[in-house]
Parts: sequence; C-alpha cells; structure tokens
Amino acid sequence: MASQAAAVEAGESASGGISRREFLYYIWGASIALVSLQGAGLLLWFLIPRFREGEFGGTFKVSMGDVPPVNSAPINFAEGRFWLVNLDTTQPNELMYQASDEPNPIQGVAAIYKVCTHLGCIYAWTPTNSRFECPCHGSKYRLDGRRVESPAPRSLDRFLVQALADDETTVLAEASLSDDFYQPLSLPSGTAFIRVDTGSRKQGPSLPLLCEFQGNCP
Ligand code: FES
Repeated sequence: MASQAAAVEAGESASGGISRREFLYYIWGASIALVSLQGAGLLLWFLIPRFREGEFGGTFKVSMGDVPPVNSAPINFAEGRFWLVNLDTTQPNELMYQASDEPNPIQGVAAIYKVCTHLGCIYAWTPTNSRFECPCHGSKYRLDGRRVESPAPRSLDRFLVQALADDETTVLAEASLSDDFYQPLSLPSGTAFIRVDTGSRKQGPSLPLLCEFQGNCP
C-alpha cells in the first residue's frame, strides 16, 4: 500500500503536478509569510507617529484674533505646550531688551516651547518682571525666549510657524531657519491664521546671557 502511495506521488511529480505533501508545505509557507507581513504592518502602525490637529505633536491653528498684539505679554496655549509671542523691536516696547549681538529689528510671531532648557521644568511668564521665569532653579528668559540668566544652557526652543490665508490651507509664509533655529515670522498681508507645528521643534541657540549685556547678572 505504502509503495503504491509513493508511486502515485512520484508519478504526480514526474507529470508536473504537486504531491499532497508539497501542497501542505506551500500552504504552511504562505501562512507563515502572511502572519509575518501582518506583524510587520502592525509594528509600522505603532512606530509611525500619527497626530491629529489640535493634539500635541501635531498642528494647531490659531486665528489672528487670538494672536497677541505686537510687543504685548505672551499668550499661553496649554494644549499645544507653547507660548505665542508677537515681536517688533522697531516699535516702542517695555518687554524686549535687545543686546548688541542681535539682528535689528526682531519682528514677527514665534511659538515658544513651554519646557525649560535646563532640566525640563515648566516655566511661566512673570508679568511683574516682564520675563519667563523657571520655578525650579531660577533660569530666566526674555519675551522671545532668549536666555537672560542661567543655569539654562540655551535659549528656549521654538516650533515651526506658518501664516495661512483665510481658506485655512494656503501657506503664505513660513518661519525660516537661522543656525537651525526658527526665526520669528513676519506676517504677510492677508494672513488670517497661524499654524504651529508642534512636531517640528528646533533647539534654542546658546547665545551669551542677556544679563551680561545689561550688567546685572547675579
Ligand atoms: S529646570 Fe528650569 S532652571 Fe532648572
């Protein structure tokens, strides 16, 4: 009987067909490949970050009515973990001391990450001193995020900012990079919204302390 089955298998192979055993091997191999593909797909699904609009890591759209007036106190966007500032050093201002090593003027909107560059505490705007102050170890920053006093090793980080037209999608202008750091974005006419991309953050530069220029370092 066994020799009969072997003869049948040998006959199928010789005639170009496949034996039952081969067929089962193919099914088994295909199943393994399918399971592996599913596993790889699931892994990619978890590894590739996906953020919705209005969720930290994604984009935030801010209407012009919610952008702070030029040279006024910053506005806190808690969900996006950033402060929005609107600067113009050509206009009178009481909040922005400018150092001699800086470009003149400093103009435009910037979105500043709310985490201190020292050890990651959440700092806050202190209106009485007109600067950002960190409660943990006393680092201080100017309105645009430049480091005023250490121990912070560098200025505050910034997110990419874009100016949008009133269709909410057309990008009129985008913050440019200087030394791999986002510069404030001067808003072109026709800007109706600001888009802040919290998935695109640049580290603040390690400029000299502002208190050194002011001669009042502690
Ligand atoms: S974490 Fe802000 S000064 Fe240390």
